[in-house]
Amino acid sequence: MHLRCSDPECGTTLELHERELACPVCGELLEVVIGPLAVTPAELKRTWLARKTSYAPRDVSGVWRFREFLPDGYSEVVTMGEGNNPLVSGRKTADWAGLRNLTYKHLGWNPTACFKDLGMTVGVTEAVYVGAKSVGCASTGNTAASLAAYAARAGLSAKVYLPARQVSRNKLAQALDFGAEVVHIEGSFDAALNQLLADTNRELYFLNSINPFRLEGQKTVMFEMLEQLDWCAPDYVVVPGGNLGNSSAFGKALIELHAAGFIERLPRMIIVQAEGANPLARMWRSGRSVLEPVEHPETSATAIRIGKPRSWKKAMRALRYTDGFVMDVSDEEIAEAKAMIGRDGIGCEPASATTLAALRKLSWQGRIDRDAAVVAILTGHALKDTDFILKSQPHEAARAGARA
Ligand code: F0G
Repeated sequence: MHLRCSDPECGTTLELHERELACPVCGELLEVVIGPLAVTPAELKRTWLARKTSYAPRDVSGVWRFREFLPDGYSEVVTMGEGNNPLVSGRKTADWAGLRNLTYKHLGWNPTACFKDLGMTVGVTEAVYVGAKSVGCASTGNTAASLAAYAARAGLSAKVYLPARQVSRNKLAQALDFGAEVVHIEGSFDAALNQLLADTNRELYFLNSINPFRLEGQKTVMFEMLEQLDWCAPDYVVVPGGNLGNSSAFGKALIELHAAGFIERLPRMIIVQAEGANPLARMWRSGRSVLEPVEHPETSATAIRIGKPRSWKKAMRALRYTDGFVMDVSDEEIAEAKAMIGRDGIGCEPASATTLAALRKLSWQGRIDRDAAVVAILTGHALKDTDFILKSQPHEAARAGARA
């Protein structure tokens, strides 16, 4: 296994555990290249299932259970049993969206209530491996909470850069609870990330999704989903897009599994952005090949309030490989879809509801078959943003004496 520049025209390679976030030759993002497998897909599928009966920490983790496709060399991993997230069928929401076969993969049901844990278990394990003492990230809230938790487990200090007054207080509270140092930055997530990258403390190990090890962990969502579907890909996988790390990771998983013969057909990936923070959707519609940042991103789905997504080229590769596409939805559509997911007894945070909002739109426009098998990725738990819920029901909030 090794690191490689994600620009195929450059293709510079580095040692797997080299501490670089960008290609030293051209500056593009790096990615992990998995070595050839020693066993057949059928054997590995059996091994992965058999691990479910084990209590060894690496087998209990829904990430490390798939370790043949993950970076290696670690004597210990920092894990809290992340992953193992069920597929839950949508009922009222399926009707509402005009679909018959809608399933949610709820990544909000992770240790810190968000998909970021799946990446952090690998990212923080790597940070320990390279001898880092402190880890840092810029965040719209969830990465910060997850980083803080995994850093605490590993005995590392955590520093998080948050856009001031734009992070849900539940997420901020989590980061504080896990003992992170919080830096509030004026401006958006993009400004916070720039600030982090300018941090002169070279000791700080960066754990945003530009870190290729994080994406390796997030990749396992597709492994687990396909295993749950007996390795039969759905027609569509729908995923919210912010910094576009998650969609890139899912794409990488699908490319690897397809190339290695674990699946015969691919799901089409649909990336959904909020209308006020939609640089990829704009680029997609315009047919341009270069992303123009949205200077002042604005959406009430604060998790994806990002104007300059760093992983857009990797996400585009995922879209090309899976014959996918990008769309955007309004804040009103997000709020409506979020409330419906709550009524289905599932619940999620606003950014996750972009998925259902998009599906309803596609179905109304006749762009998706009623019988299509669809998996919508719910990225965060409903309790991640309780102000959003209380604000949507001010009368109830006032009756209960809650501050909305
Ligand atoms: N959904 C939720 C709940 C998120 O927190 C994020 C990103 C996304 C979707 C989008 O994922 O960035 O990989 O495209 N949150 C980051 C954070 C930016 O700092 O917590 P992406």
